Amino acid sequence: MCGIFGVVSSQQVQSSLIDGLSKLEYRGYDSAGLSILTANNKIKRVRCVGKVKNLKSLLVKSKSRGVCGIAHTRWATHGEPILKNSHPHNSKCVSIAHNGIIENADELKKFLLKKKYKFTSDTDSEVIAHLLNYFVVYHNDATKALIAVTKKLQGSYAIGGICDKWPGTLLVACNGSPLLIGIGNDENYISSDMHALSNKSEKFILLSDMEIATITKDTVDVFSQSGKKLKKTISNSTKSNIEISKGTYKHFMRKEIYEQYDIVVNAIKNKIGAYGLLPNIFGPNSDKLLLKTKHIHFVACGTSYNAALIAKYWIEDVTDIVCTAEIASEYRYRTVNVPKGTLFVAISQSGETADTIYSAKKAKTRGYSSLLSICNVPESSLTRLSDLVYLTHAGPEISVASTKAFTSQLVALLFMTMVLSRTSSLKNIEKTILKQLKSLPSILKRTFSLEKIIKTIAKNFKNKKHTLFLGRGASYPIALEAALKLKEITYIHAEGYAAGELKHGPLALVDKNLPVVGLMPDNNLVNQVLSNLAEVKARQGLVYIFTNKKLKNSKTDKTKVVSMPSCGHFVSPIVYVIPMQLLAYYVAIEKKTNIDQPRNLAKSVTVE
Ligand code: F6R
Repeated sequence: MCGIFGVVSSQQVQSSLIDGLSKLEYRGYDSAGLSILTANNKIKRVRCVGKVKNLKSLLVKSKSRGVCGIAHTRWATHGEPILKNSHPHNSKCVSIAHNGIIENADELKKFLLKKKYKFTSDTDSEVIAHLLNYFVVYHNDATKALIAVTKKLQGSYAIGGICDKWPGTLLVACNGSPLLIGIGNDENYISSDMHALSNKSEKFILLSDMEIATITKDTVDVFSQSGKKLKKTISNSTKSNIEISKGTYKHFMRKEIYEQYDIVVNAIKNKIGAYGLLPNIFGPNSDKLLLKTKHIHFVACGTSYNAALIAKYWIEDVTDIVCTAEIASEYRYRTVNVPKGTLFVAISQSGETADTIYSAKKAKTRGYSSLLSICNVPESSLTRLSDLVYLTHAGPEISVASTKAFTSQLVALLFMTMVLSRTSSLKNIEKTILKQLKSLPSILKRTFSLEKIIKTIAKNFKNKKHTLFLGRGASYPIALEAALKLKEITYIHAEGYAAGELKHGPLALVDKNLPVVGLMPDNNLVNQVLSNLAEVKARQGLVYIFTNKKLKNSKTDKTKVVSMPSCGHFVSPIVYVIPMQLLAYYVAIEKKTNIDQPRNLAKSVTVE
């Protein structure tokens, strides 16, 4: 993961580096650092453990001033999140920041130790600094040195560097980790994403794998690994300059939970016309392609994977299409059989998740009818790889725990189910889904009004060590999502289970201290879920039921029932995930954890 930002300018770059880096903090916040080439051509490095705000304070005290610099915010992979492992890493005349993983770091370290280089960190990245120094001395040419370094590296990397031999130049290389070059006035930038460039430059160049670049305030030269100068396309950013702030909310997570209402309303407004779903919303000729589809392989990670699981329930419910939903880190390494007429669908909020990108790259070589991505970020690695793209337009999701991106993916997947249902022998499915979707905004409003009740319930979870979430059918992936949200931001161990699986093992965990949350929309599975919850009650488990079914509880029954608004079968996962997000949020409030930036995590998982 990690974020890299760099600036070369005619002006001093300290504040620009801090500003850019703050916007990349979602990529990791274990440590932060920067290196600047000062007026007397010295590399000044400032590093700290923790967040960019700590770096900002240190920078004020230090004498680091200059017109060319690189900055880094870290999500620890190799080596603990301590000062010596913070980037940038220095080696005599060079300083570098790295995002990615160097797979042959141990082998390179042996080579460099023989050349008498001294290692001061536990990171894989430090080998890059020493290698660059080695080849700078050897070639005395920035481009040749960068090419030589990248020829030695195996793995993924985005590298930003400075060298005191070329004071006004950023040294850059990229392979498998994203890096953009922003073109400004009298200054140029490097950045891990577009967002950090938003108030600085509208024009950008996207580096492709195995490319290197040297950048001054007036020039950008990009080369292939064979040393050929490349003519790169300069693109205009389509990203709107949305000011990202918490507004009146205390946390981005709660703001984003509430934004789900507008996201649903806008998706309905923008994709549904007077005669139903607009044609080809998944890209040119996508309707025709979807109607010919016999199989779908959904691939994603984390919350996006949970969305894929729900799509599998929806689509197989109403069509003959065979769907699989698979975790990208599994898909990318296994042998996959691809029957004729199979569509590959990647789902990702960021479009930068390494395992999903690699899976999509693999899919490109496996004879799928097409590669469709459902993604929230327009200029992302995933959308660039895809034949067809559906943008979820959820707006920037800042909280590490994904909420609004999930709902926007579910709406997209319901739209997909609508198109696919046209091949179904079942009557009026598309109309039924449409009707349910149109009813969703008012149901969501009623669901949000449960916030107060959920806030009270959350207090009961504060001191718990474990929690189980149970659901059947499309509520099972919501149980998984509920558990993911709770563990992610409260650090309480939580598991989502298909309710029917309880007696096959997890029932052994149930005692008077274990909260068990049942997600139970009133549908054909309600009696089965009730039986499973009865098994929990019989063992003194603390049962919480979220349901729109009227339940008759005896006076002695301690079960807490939260009455949900009634909703249609297809939209119920979208409705039932809301109280689960709020529950996790309020338990985290009780536990006083860092809600938007939970420990050990980062928003965009760009390493495998
Ligand atoms: C959980 C969460 C993660 C992401 C996962 C995939 O709240 O945010 O599990 O869902 O890392 O990320 P994307 O969707 O960006 O590929």
